[in-house]
Amino acid sequence: MLLYDTTECSIERIGNLIMTDSNIKQAAEAIHNATKIAVLTGAGVSKESGVPTFRDALDGLWAKYNPEELATPMAFKANPKLVWDWYQFRRELAGSVKPNPGHVALAELHKYNPGMVVITQNVDDLHEQAGSRKVIHLHGNIAESKCYDNCQGTPTLIDLDSFEWDRDDGPPACPHCGANVRPNVVWFHEMLPEDNLSLAYSVSLQCDLMIVIGTSGLVTPAATLPKIAKETEDNPAKILEINPDYSMITRYADIKIEAPSGESLPKVVAEVAKLRAN
Ligand code: APR
Repeated sequence: MLLYDTTECSIERIGNLIMTDSNIKQAAEAIHNATKIAVLTGAGVSKESGVPTFRDALDGLWAKYNPEELATPMAFKANPKLVWDWYQFRRELAGSVKPNPGHVALAELHKYNPGMVVITQNVDDLHEQAGSRKVIHLHGNIAESKCYDNCQGTPTLIDLDSFEWDRDDGPPACPHCGANVRPNVVWFHEMLPEDNLSLAYSVSLQCDLMIVIGTSGLVTPAATLPKIAKETEDNPAKILEINPDYSMITRYADIKIEAPSGESLPKVVAEVAKLRAN
């Protein structure tokens, strides 16, 4: 049960979560007054689309595996078919879901801040489907496959529909060099795409507001971006966090909305629209 000073605001209760209109209004004012907005999203922003977050208990077939033990080069080398099938399962899921009101509201914010950049840890394309432009993917794109050895350059993307292979027999062989084909995502112990990471760092340094949505803040370097934004000497950014739970980012948050993003972001954007209309 969360205790709030209810004298100055009405309280809207969602399940056992409380979203006060005062922090919705504070968030909208911060967005309205910002000049350069960076957004950092994690799996939580896709949760209301039906995509399990990374550290949620995976239900069904995958409940008995720890995702962090599947998303590694060692796991793929030890059991390519298990890891490949896990990603095929996630691909099919990601391909079957739609953006939720949180993605759509975020895309609408581009209207009020055309320079806004979305930095995402997610490997789905729900931000793009919702209409967000300028999306930087730090951890890759689950819809893409590549040669494990990047034999034609980094990355050597492979079109799985351009050649025959047995879809029940784990990953196909690269048609160029015969190495295993793998998902074009970043696994633990692997380097992030350099260009995207340096772009994310410069966007974080330049922003005066960072909106952090749906991430536990457990995985670096993505989790360091809010701290970098906040502690930039000549241009410290304000941090707005939207997450129903406490995260490793909460300690940096100037404004925290403890609610699901699909519920709260549309309310924040509606308040921004009112401020812009005045
Ligand atoms: N709205 C907003 N946030 C939510 C919602 C929601 N509806 N539901 C859950 N959350 C929050 C959870 O409270 C949690 O803090 O989303 C966060 C999800 O955390 P993780 O599952 O750890 O996902 P993420 O932070 O994106 O993981 C980062 O770790 O495993 C790697 O590469 C993987 O990109 C992933 C990275």
